[in-house]
Amino acid sequence: MSLTVNEIRSKFLNYMLEKGHAVVPSASLVPENDPTTLFTGSGMQPMLPYLLGQPHPLGKRIADSQKSFRSQDIEEVGDNRHTTFFEMLGNWSFGDYFKEEEITWMWTFLIDELKLDPSNFYVTCFAGNEALGVPRDTFSADLWQKLFAEYGVDANISDTPEEGIGEGERIFYYSEKKNWWSRSGVPQNMPEGEPGGPDSEMFYDFDPKNEKKVHENSAWKNEPCHVNCDCGRFLEIGNNVFMQYKKTANGFEELPQMNVDHGSGLERYAAALRNDSDMFNIDVFDEPKKTIARLSGKNYGANDIEIYAYRVVLDHIRSATFLIGDGVMPGNKDQMYFVRRLIRRAVRFARNLGVQENFTKEVASSFIETYKGEYKNLEEKKESILTEIDREESKFRKTLENGIKEFEKVIAKDKGDEAWNKLNPNESNINPNDVLRWEIPADVAFNLLQSFGFPIELTEEIAKEKGFSVDMSGFEELKKQHSESSRTASAGKFKGGLGGDGEMEVKFHTATHLLHEALRQVLGDHVLQKGSNITSERLRFDFSHGEKMTDEQKANVEKIINDVIAADLPVHREEVSYEEARARGAIGVFDAKYDATVSIYTIGAQTGKRGEANLFSMEFCGGPHVEHTGQLGHFKIAKEEAVSAGVRRIKAVLE
Ligand code: ALA
Repeated sequence: MSLTVNEIRSKFLNYMLEKGHAVVPSASLVPENDPTTLFTGSGMQPMLPYLLGQPHPLGKRIADSQKSFRSQDIEEVGDNRHTTFFEMLGNWSFGDYFKEEEITWMWTFLIDELKLDPSNFYVTCFAGNEALGVPRDTFSADLWQKLFAEYGVDANISDTPEEGIGEGERIFYYSEKKNWWSRSGVPQNMPEGEPGGPDSEMFYDFDPKNEKKVHENSAWKNEPCHVNCDCGRFLEIGNNVFMQYKKTANGFEELPQMNVDHGSGLERYAAALRNDSDMFNIDVFDEPKKTIARLSGKNYGANDIEIYAYRVVLDHIRSATFLIGDGVMPGNKDQMYFVRRLIRRAVRFARNLGVQENFTKEVASSFIETYKGEYKNLEEKKESILTEIDREESKFRKTLENGIKEFEKVIAKDKGDEAWNKLNPNESNINPNDVLRWEIPADVAFNLLQSFGFPIELTEEIAKEKGFSVDMSGFEELKKQHSESSRTASAGKFKGGLGGDGEMEVKFHTATHLLHEALRQVLGDHVLQKGSNITSERLRFDFSHGEKMTDEQKANVEKIINDVIAADLPVHREEVSYEEARARGAIGVFDAKYDATVSIYTIGAQTGKRGEANLFSMEFCGGPHVEHTGQLGHFKIAKEEAVSAGVRRIKAVLE
């Protein structure tokens, strides 16, 4: 019997306790003090202030097992390794120990405590980059080599990892593309002020003797296999980040302290210890799997389509259970939308297992049983989790039935089919069997959304399954036109979730952008939006700032805003790549996970960077806004007060 997830978690936390760490509970999946991201996706996110130098109340050595959710992986789920939810085992040194302790402890924990076979273990280190001013990490590579040698394993160091694994090679130098970690990835993508550093990653080999021919049977068979190859032979199980740098305008400077940020995949450890690369065979899925088998009459593993469906259901219901447990209900906005999407996808894939009736609540219940020892909130909130998930499922089942009927109608392939001809009046001579050529027209996709509540990503997915594509840019255009026309209509709601749909709300929304920027100019760049609420009477804006504002500061903010109003600057929406938006300094909820293309609103010039000539404000935002600032009238702060530690609130009016 290999160790269970619960046993591995306890062993890790006890080990780190013995090494002088304070063990803290997992933070919520919804970041509390970080408006830059929607979800906690790694153990380090809640530790950011301490990595930057603020003292942690419990000392310089902290460890935990952090619940994490990566929304960008939703569509990757289905293979043997991707999950949207996972637990990250982490330990941190805030300017205390460094590489020597971290690497030695990792070795002893994995090899001595967990009894991982060192002959299946591989590591990587940073190759160094002169342009960045960061040297090669020979210290880590040499130390790993010494540890391998102590256990009788030859471990040669390779400088050319992508050329394949040479005789006896176990330690590989990769460039910053692989062996650098920051919240925004490679050094080039890091915004100023962001911490990051070289890392040393740990891998497990599931096919050491090449018996399973994992690589040969994969899409990568014509390339050499190496530890970062995506064929599935190797799995990264953990990462030790030496977080010692901060990005500045002129490159990198050392942080005041040398930090360690280690994160390992708890479930990945469990899979490695079972020597089974299917993540969905670890023990936490045992009970939920039995529930699905009981409800569907199908066992996990029968055929590829069913395995895929099982995995999607298991992953998505687990994530939805944890997210609702952390207070995120299914809905239309922000985090809530992801919960809705997870439940919807789970329902849809369960159809491939023959499940046609409500079932999510029972699978969620099995997950609560499995995890309640560690996550008491799941047991405490059991009733509401099950009710919410079941309600959302019922709602969606109705939509799904109607939508699929409609969908099938519009994509009917028969040449003579009325719908086909209607949709393709100019192409009625198209070969109907040549389905790959057919793009679902934007108006069809839009109608599925408008009339049947059929979400666009579902249309895209079903289309893909059937070999179609969707005219996405046309769809976005229609959606935009629709939201513009509903701005003036008396009925209808704004996408941004404003309280109402009248002209005043739109004005207050633009005023909120002006306020956000003006506060940053007067109080500093630490000011970030924490919340916003708009009615037709006033705006309310919560933002990060530690002290009460002085009268002078308030007057300055008002003056900046009223000057921008007097200058009558244009307000402009643009769609740009996420990288461009960040490079140009857009502020707001950064979440590359939504899409590669983001919508930004600029106030003032339409080119250049935020803060440059005339470009007063640039935010990630879905709108709507006024067309030019002169429409706003006179801005006045009505109240400034505390909401919680470090968060202030302003209520303001337009006169
Ligand atoms: N923060 C590092 C990661 O997420 C450990 O990989």
